[in-house]
This record gives sequence, structure tokens and C-alpha cells, in this order.
Amino acid sequence: MGEDGDYGRKYVLDPVMVERVAGRGFRTALDVGCGEGRFCRTLQTLGIATVGIDPTATLIERARHLDPGGDYRIGYAETLDVAPGSFDLVVSYLSLIDIPNLAPAATKMVAALRPGGTLLIANLTSFNTAGLPDGWTPDAHARLRFHIDHYLEERATWVAWRGIRVQNWHRPLSTYMTLFLENGLELRHFSEPAPRGGDPDKSDRYRRVPWFHIMEWQKPAS
Ligand SMILES: C[S@@+](CC[C@H](N)C(=O)[O-])C[C@H]1O[C@@H](n2cnc3c(N)ncnc32)[C@H](O)[C@@H]1O
Repeated sequence: MGEDGDYGRKYVLDPVMVERVAGRGFRTALDVGCGEGRFCRTLQTLGIATVGIDPTATLIERARHLDPGGDYRIGYAETLDVAPGSFDLVVSYLSLIDIPNLAPAATKMVAALRPGGTLLIANLTSFNTAGLPDGWTPDAHARLRFHIDHYLEERATWVAWRGIRVQNWHRPLSTYMTLFLENGLELRHFSEPAPRGGDPDKSDRYRRVPWFHIMEWQKPAS
């Protein structure tokens, strides 16, 4: 991944994720599914104290190696063990699609927020995950088309990415929206960010089909 992130992070998600956080007065953040901790370190440059959690031990080891003073913990979102109400900001940066048991994970993330706190999510859109694992396939004229199917069927799909096999969950968008609404959160921001620069071919792909969305939810102050 590197500290700059891949194309989608660097040119599509990061600009909006940083805009949503900078200058808002957040002092503490929990990054759920932090991976190598790249976004924790971005938050630290904005003056925010971070805790990163991820169940993949090798990724947490890498995060600790890159940031020896950082707070990185091995753990699952579903069984998050942090003090309730202790974070101004909880972040899920492309981790909801990896989490098998979403309902307990959402409850734990919301519990970790202080009243008035913010849950910031970057995720693959459900219209994109409905195209996994094949996604782009050539049509009869060798033109690439993106195929979506079985949209309403929740399912896990194995995908290969840069030589790594991971299981991604497809869930209809309503599953995510209903879950956070039922947890009492209020939607403050929803966007489908467009690429801002980088390789023109990649930019074109990210513009042709639904790819990412960013959601910001707020826990009521009382
Ligand atoms: C696509 S990666 C994103 C990592 C990081 N946020 C980033 O942007 O580079 C998804 C992460 O979710 C983690 N993950 C998988 N299952 C999880 C779970 N049950 N709870 C929390 N994180 C999980 C994976 O280990 C992986 O690091």
C-alpha cells in the first residue's frame, strides 16, 4: 500500500476523507480495520490522537514498525474492546466490506463514539460489489462493460487484488443505511467522490461505473 495509498485512496478517497476531518476539532479517533495504519498516520498529521485496530496480525506488526509510537491493536470490529463513548471520531476506511458480522460491528463502533461524535466511512458502493468478482468483462465487440447482478442478495465473494486473496462482502446499500439509522445515527454527508488526477485511464474507469462512497454519520449529542 505504501504511505501514499493506491490509486483509489490517493486520488479518489483521501482528498474527501481529509476534507471531512481537517479543522473540525476532532482530538481522538479510532480507525476500525486500519490495516497498515496509513490513515491513522494521516489523522495524526492533523493533530488527532489515534487508535488503530485490525484482526490481521501481520498488518498490525507492519503498522507498529512504520510508527513505533503509534497505538495499533489486534482486534475485530465485532468484539471491539475500547472504552464506550471515548472517541470523537470513528473511521472505517474500506473495511465494512471486509467485516463478516456487520450488525455487532456497527453497534460497537457507535458505542465507541462520544455523544455528538462522528462516524466517517469510506466504502465500495453496493453497485460495485454487486459486480464482484468479475466486474469488468468484454462484450461481443470487445468493449469492457461492468456487470452487476443479484443486487439484493447479500454474499461474500473471493477477490484477488495485487496477488492477495480477500473476501469482500456485497450487501445492498439499504443494509448499511438501515443499520446505522437503527443505531440512532444521523446522516450528515454522502458523496460519490470523483477522481482528482492521476493516470487518465484509471480516472476514466473510476468515472464510468459506481465505485466508492463516503458517508458521515453523527451520534446525537444527547
Ligand atoms: C481493504 S482493507 C483496508 C485497510 C485500511 N483501512 C486501508 O485503507 O488501507 C480492509 C481491512 O479490514 C480488516 N478486517 C477484516 N475483517 C475485519 C473485522 N472483522 N474487523 C475489523 N477489521 C477487519 C482487514 O484485515 C483489512 O486490514
